[in-house]
Amino acid sequence: MNTDLVVVGSGLYGLTVAERAANKLGLNVTIIDRRDHIGGNAYSEIDPETGIEVHKYGAHLFHTSNERVWEYVNRFTSFTNYVHRVYGVHKGEVFPLPINLGTINQFFRANLTPDQARALIQEQAGEFAGQDPQNLNDKGISLIGRPLYEAFIKHYTGKQWQTDPTNLPASIISRLPVRYTYDNRYFNDTYEGLPTDGYTAWLERMADNPRINVQLSTDFFDDSAEFSKKNVVGQVPVIYTGAVDRYFDYAEGDLKWRTIDFERETLPTGDFQGTSVVNYNDDDVPYTRIIEPRHFHPERDYATDKTIIMREFSRFAEKGDEPYYPVNTEEDRTKLLAYRDLAKGEKDVIFGGRLGTYKYLDMHMAIGAALSTFDNKIEPHFARGASLE
Ligand code: FAD
Ligand code: NA
Repeated sequence: MNTDLVVVGSGLYGLTVAERAANKLGLNVTIIDRRDHIGGNAYSEIDPETGIEVHKYGAHLFHTSNERVWEYVNRFTSFTNYVHRVYGVHKGEVFPLPINLGTINQFFRANLTPDQARALIQEQAGEFAGQDPQNLNDKGISLIGRPLYEAFIKHYTGKQWQTDPTNLPASIISRLPVRYTYDNRYFNDTYEGLPTDGYTAWLERMADNPRINVQLSTDFFDDSAEFSKKNVVGQVPVIYTGAVDRYFDYAEGDLKWRTIDFERETLPTGDFQGTSVVNYNDDDVPYTRIIEPRHFHPERDYATDKTIIMREFSRFAEKGDEPYYPVNTEEDRTKLLAYRDLAKGEKDVIFGGRLGTYKYLDMHMAIGAALSTFDNKIEPHFARGASLE
């Protein structure tokens, strides 16, 4: 077989491994992806009618505090100075999110100082004092008090899970951040921004090496494909970033995911909502939020008479849907442990990335994890013959 390493999946995990293996170790790498484009969920495309860059699999904002990841990604793209902020509509009024002093003072029509606001929220959160919250609803109230919880969290979470929060486990949320300043910058990370020339340019540069051979529209489980599971496992090391349950033919059962349906519309106005993301926190609208992608790149000369919006509807994924967020129930975790045991026994196959580990990973986490796997397993294997596990 004319390749040293097969990478299944061209998302940021797979691309990072392939890039390092080709550029640092000089290996010939084959990346396969069943989609007709590279980049996994970070992929975006330019809408031909408006010229607006649309994140096909949902809004992707790059952010990290990891110096190594920041240095690494800057080899392939520069980043704009975009700073992410989110607003939310409740009872016909727009509030800044995440909940901060501005949200609190607007909501209570007050002029509270940080200390006064902290004292108020503490008092309101005392409703279930001394009790162990049994569901997400009670947990939310015990974290930030009933008024703010019911306005900003309850229905939004209910829509995300298509389940009343009184029927959701308390474990879904461990904390609900409240900021006692007016800072409504969404991410707390040292670095954030959007790739200046777009996601696809960034992702394509990672694979831009004659030693990297990309085969699109190729499913690892299609036995007729040259680099299928049947043909490559046992012949050549494999980095597998597809779904772990699929790899083992669902032998331990299906791992559950949530998905999002995007309803996309082009509107005859230069600006629909004045910002990139507006959440809808009440249950009078069925969608969770509206994304207006032109606002991710205010520095670009987009058409001024048209805009694109995407409404997001959240639901449980069925077979054939895009798996986006792990549901991660007790049952899922038990199955995952069984799959991890199977994966360990699969010689010369490394399971990585979001689908391969059944774990939500932000882009910087996927890249960081891939760099660690490269350092700890792939390089030692090819440089010194160490086992890949
Ligand atoms: P993926 O990007 O999912 O790539 C896996 C690839 O494997 C896919 O291309 C898939 O087609 C391929 N594949 C699967 N099975 C097979 C098979 N059988 N044969 C061949 N190929 C296969 N991160 C952020 O940092 N900021 C954000 O704002 C952000 N927003 C997100 C919004 C959504 C809705 C989602 C789902 C994710 C978001 N992320 C965000 C996370 C980001 O997309 C991940 O970091 C990234 O998906 C992880 O990369 P990955 O390589 O592990 O997986
Ligand atoms: Na393995």
